[in-house]
Amino acid sequence: MAGAFLSDIQTLRKRAREHIAQGAVTPGYHADRATVLKLLNEALATEWVCTLRYKRHYYMAKGIHAEGVASEFLEHANDEQQHADQIAERITQLGGEPDLSPDGLSSRSHAEYVEGESLEDMIKEDLVAERIAIDSYREMIAYFGDADPTSRRLMEEILAKEEEHADDLANLIEGMAK
Ligand SMILES: [Fe+2]
Ligand SMILES: [Fe+2]
Repeated sequence: MAGAFLSDIQTLRKRAREHIAQGAVTPGYHADRATVLKLLNEALATEWVCTLRYKRHYYMAKGIHAEGVASEFLEHANDEQQHADQIAERITQLGGEPDLSPDGLSSRSHAEYVEGESLEDMIKEDLVAERIAIDSYREMIAYFGDADPTSRRLMEEILAKEEEHADDLANLIEGMAK
């Protein structure tokens, strides 16, 4: 019996007509929107800081002719940029505003912008940043839970990519040790 867990059709239809200017945000959205937007903006800042750090590392590694590592950095930079765009898109869907102000970007970000001296330093700093993102995104996912499954799924998808990044970097470090 669907009625036991799904609102009846008349109620669904009536509710959908209320506050239509809120777009994707329906009366059934029970997450704390302010908190969700704050967390998504922190993730957005994290992705931008990671994009910038990987870009810096890409150009510096290219300068010292470490082409293989440089291309890995560039690939990661592009992934982080894509994550930032996906998160910004979700923020606007929820009626929020993506905070892209460069002022305070690094303090809103969970991960840090560390330039690193050597190629090995750069890879290590990137790995540390990925591990920070992995833990903070996992916590966000748990918080979103069933209250905002779309934000949860987005962050789950991004988390899987960050785990891939961390693994790539760990392999690079292992390769350098040989
Ligand atoms: Fe990312
Ligand atoms: Fe990453």
